[in-house]
Amino acid sequence: MVNVEICIGSACYVKGSSQVVNQLNDLIKENHWEDKIAVKGSFCMKACQNHIGLGIRINGNQIEQVTAQNAKEVLSRELFKILS
Ligand code: FES
Repeated sequence: MVNVEICIGSACYVKGSSQVVNQLNDLIKENHWEDKIAVKGSFCMKACQNHIGLGIRINGNQIEQVTAQNAKEVLSRELFKILS
């Protein structure tokens, strides 16, 4: 199981983390990954303070430079690396 954590802290929420959740859910449905990916919310993971984009972790590894605009592309690339 691949664990994806998305920050629901206020700074990430303002920058569109809820849109990232929707994009991730679309990606999971499109690729039939329902049994392979667990999505969880997380409190602030300091990505906002370190200016590395939205707070997203895959299997505990911070994914940098994710925005609400590029999330589907970045998450797709990262998840295909793990799941293919
Ligand atoms: S509020 Fe999301 S990383 Fe800080």
